[in-house]
Amino acid sequence: MPRILVAGGAGFVGSHLMRRLLAQGHEVVCVDNLSTGFVSNIEELLENPNFRFMEADITDPFHIPFDAAFNLACPASPPHYQRLSLETIDACTVGVRNLLRATLRNGGRLVHASTSEVYGDPEVHPQRERYHGNVGTLTERACYDEGKRLAETLCYEYHKRGCSVRIARLFNTYGPFMHQDDGRVVSNFIVSALTGRPLTIYGDGSQTRSFCFVSDTVDALVRFMDLPGEHLPVFNLGNPREMQVIDLARLVLRLTGSAAPIHFLPPAAADPGRRRPCIQRARRALDWRPQVELEKGLQYTIAYFSELLQAQTGRFTASGDVARFQQASADAGALI
Ligand SMILES: NC(=O)c1ccc[n+]([C@@H]2O[C@H](COP(=O)([O-])OP(=O)(O)OC[C@H]3O[C@@H](n4cnc5c(N)ncnc54)[C@H](O)[C@@H]3O)[C@@H](O)[C@H]2O)c1
Repeated sequence: MPRILVAGGAGFVGSHLMRRLLAQGHEVVCVDNLSTGFVSNIEELLENPNFRFMEADITDPFHIPFDAAFNLACPASPPHYQRLSLETIDACTVGVRNLLRATLRNGGRLVHASTSEVYGDPEVHPQRERYHGNVGTLTERACYDEGKRLAETLCYEYHKRGCSVRIARLFNTYGPFMHQDDGRVVSNFIVSALTGRPLTIYGDGSQTRSFCFVSDTVDALVRFMDLPGEHLPVFNLGNPREMQVIDLARLVLRLTGSAAPIHFLPPAAADPGRRRPCIQRARRALDWRPQVELEKGLQYTIAYFSELLQAQTGRFTASGDVARFQQASADAGALI
């Protein structure tokens, strides 16, 4: 089986992707600097003879032979990329260039994880791949948004030079193994609801997002790698169901049975107003569409966090039926 390099594999999406690749029988090499990822995300993989973990930074040149690579190496949540702004720019530029060089040298293929943030605060809706975006260079989000845009341009330039590369623009992905403190809206809401702390909304909550369960994202990434052809495909990967953030908060409260209050704070700087992917291209080319309904995916994620918090605090935090949570946890385990 081919040897697959996963840069950023110790992070949230990468750890799921590597589990899937190993289950398919691939040899997997994970390169990660652990800046926002954790060895605990991949602990059980370390026993697998087809798996190797290298603590390394993609901004340093590396010479690992591989047949194919996924690049997920970049801080992804706003608090992290704002704290690591220069490292984020380096990962998106120097790091992506190192990976493209290595892919060209190895004669392999690279799937690069880009983001819906390349559309900035979009003026068109839903967002199609041909939309060029509404992004500012001088904002708190620019290190990530503009970094990811330049990374795509690097992919374009290396593709012209013969490198086989694909660009996956991921929209919000959620699920088990998100880190409880990394500041993403789904994990924030669930952890707050389970611990009875206020759910914090920046702005009035009317901003929208579209949430894709991680097994669907992984499914699309794997299909994308297998897509034949040598053109430079660019696909939105996400769930087109759009939801206001306030409705997400209410849904999490209902599913956890929590009575935690909702608190409103001033809007976050440069926070996009609406987000919904048009996924027609990916649907056609990959024969893919998200399978996991938001309510189901949230139940799986709530079950994960409730087990995690139970292990940390020694008590069951969600109100309601323990057996229901255990069943959700088992169902999620079968999916991911
Ligand atoms: N999760 C989402 O909702 C989402 C949405 C859009 C795009 N993406 C993209 O998907 C990728 C993975 O996101 P995630 O949610 O798993 O984030 P994450 O922060 O959990 O994972 C990123 C991983 O990359 C590693 N990393 C960062 N810089 C590195 C470097 N220079 N060298 C080596 N490793 C490095 C981190 O340690 C971490 O393990 C990112 O590129 C992100 O931009 C994610």
